[in-house]
Amino acid sequence: MIAMESLTGILLPCIIALYVAAWLYLRKIFLNQTSVPLQNEPTTIEAIGEDFDWEKAEPRPIRPFKGKKIYKINMGISNLAQTPEDWLLIENSYLKSIEIRKSVTTEFPKNTVYVHNSPETHLAVREFYDKVLKYMCERYPQYFAITEKGHVHNKITSTTLPIASETDPRDLILSLAANIEEDFLILMKDNPSDPDEEYKSRASLTGFPAGFDPSEGHNKPISFIHSPVPQYESKLKLSMGKFFNRLESKDLWCRHNWSIQTHKARFSLANNHAYEGQKVEQLKYEDIDFEEGAFLRVERQILTRLPHSRANIMTVRTFLTPLKQIKEEGLSNELCDAIDGLPDDVAFYKKRGAWGEAVKQYLREP
Ligand code: HEM
Repeated sequence: MIAMESLTGILLPCIIALYVAAWLYLRKIFLNQTSVPLQNEPTTIEAIGEDFDWEKAEPRPIRPFKGKKIYKINMGISNLAQTPEDWLLIENSYLKSIEIRKSVTTEFPKNTVYVHNSPETHLAVREFYDKVLKYMCERYPQYFAITEKGHVHNKITSTTLPIASETDPRDLILSLAANIEEDFLILMKDNPSDPDEEYKSRASLTGFPAGFDPSEGHNKPISFIHSPVPQYESKLKLSMGKFFNRLESKDLWCRHNWSIQTHKARFSLANNHAYEGQKVEQLKYEDIDFEEGAFLRVERQILTRLPHSRANIMTVRTFLTPLKQIKEEGLSNELCDAIDGLPDDVAFYKKRGAWGEAVKQYLREP
């Protein structure tokens, strides 16, 4: 009995001490990330000109198919580290994108918003949120300003954003959804020092999925998410593993993809791609609404790392450009060549069998 009491007398203080130490440690990490008020951080991003008017900012004409007579699956990345102000864009689609986001995150919360329930993920979300707000205030000072109380105010939507340390991570993601046009993913490992472990998708906002269900990738490794992608195992897996291990916070790697879609939806949980075993039905020219329902879909994906949590980040901006506009830009022949240049497996994945002939007919007619 006496032995039991003395054991409790020793063990209990030890357990309490351990708890306190763990709490102090986590608090230290947390404060390291959020204790510097935004207004006291050094400026690193060049402001866009005072005459910038978001309503007049045409979407960037990104045309990744140009000069690609032969399509090759590869990393296809270039570094924007010299122009960090090129990260998140505000263009004339701003309010429309945010409106669509609001409706899809309300209607499909499980598919569009994800936060892994772990302290490391919560810290990474807070760090990412602060990084984005700092960027928006520096890059677009006419639209994003820090208030006296240290909040950020969005002058386009007349809303004030919450403070990271006081807010639930899921609400932070929803707040970002209402303030930037880019979707984003936060990738982490369980054991960051293990080079063989894959990064997993630990938090994300996917308001504009291009024909896949984002919830199938939640908390899943990168190779699982890319399993439907042709040639992933042979051409991408190894390079991507090395790339994500070496990614640094000073980097800003950019890649673009392109596809064709014959509907207007930015939010698409299925139908843009074909997967093994599926049959692709050829569309007739008359089946497609070339005036308002046929688009070049481009994603501008940017990859970087958060310095404190060491989480990897990918932001994804989606552009839908009417095929009519591609024609007006005089790019019909280049797009037809690129469509013909898709290898069979990629052509199947992008469903060329459905839209290919009709789209080429449209592009080639006067
Ligand atoms: C350097 C980094 C990356 C490369 C080179 C890459 C490459 C690709 C390629 C080639 C495709 C096929 C469509 C296309 O882009 O043409 C694809 C699709 C996709 N990627 Fe990535 N990717 C990268 C990073 C990521 C990351 C970090 C995620 C999220 C964790 C991601 C999620 C997806 C998804 C969800 C698809 C669609 C899969 C489907 O059709 O079901 N990618 N990726």
